[in-house]
Amino acid sequence: METPIVKLSDEELKTVYEPSEDSYILMDALEVDLKILHMMKPMICLEIGSGSGIVITALAMALKRYHNAHFMAIDINPDACRTTKRISLINSVDVDVLRMNLVDCIRIKYTFDIIIFNPPYVVTEYEEVLDDRLIFKTWAGGKNGRQVMEQIFTVIPEILSDTGLFYLVVIKENDPEYILSAFQKLNMCGKVVYERKIRGEHLYVLRFCKIKNVRS
Ligand SMILES: C[S@@+](CC[C@H](N)C(=O)[O-])C[C@H]1O[C@@H](n2cnc3c(N)ncnc32)[C@H](O)[C@@H]1O
Repeated sequence: METPIVKLSDEELKTVYEPSEDSYILMDALEVDLKILHMMKPMICLEIGSGSGIVITALAMALKRYHNAHFMAIDINPDACRTTKRISLINSVDVDVLRMNLVDCIRIKYTFDIIIFNPPYVVTEYEEVLDDRLIFKTWAGGKNGRQVMEQIFTVIPEILSDTGLFYLVVIKENDPEYILSAFQKLNMCGKVVYERKIRGEHLYVLRFCKIKNVRS
């Protein structure tokens, strides 16, 4: 998978998440699955919390040649929304960007073929999740680091297409086993598809699908 050109200005860096190991591990996991993703012939792909837009842009660059797919990104941070749009355009792909809290305004069921989320996963005090400063939104995950990501768990089966795939970045402290069993209760099967230890952080990419479409 080609890495998009991403250069953030000093102004953008004040509030927008600069691509880091967690962004790259998600791109690596998507790259490993690229054949599967091509075979799916995805129509609509969504990134929740797109930040600079590096991941959704990389996915769009990888898939655009083969399919007439649409790419969407959501971020709560208006600066991140602008940056995602800019980064997609300078890399010659088009991503539709929405400023939104998670997937609050998405009402269309079973729509997205690929959903990706590299959430704020750092274990913090509850108050830090509520902090209005935009940069806090990039990392503050509250109790177990799961307070933000957990808000969408029950919605994923509702908005994912029947053959769709959901990719989630987590760290050891988030308790990946707990997350896998939470999705099992939602009739979704998940597994670790990628993991890496780097600079004191043990990162995982989990991949989920609906149980009737279990992949090896
Ligand atoms: C760890 S950063 C990941 C950024 C980018 N996807 C990457 O991998 O480089 C998390 C992103 O989620 C966004 N975010 C946090 N809380 C959100 C929420 N409630 N709704 C939408 N986006 C949110 C942040 O603004 C930030 O851009």
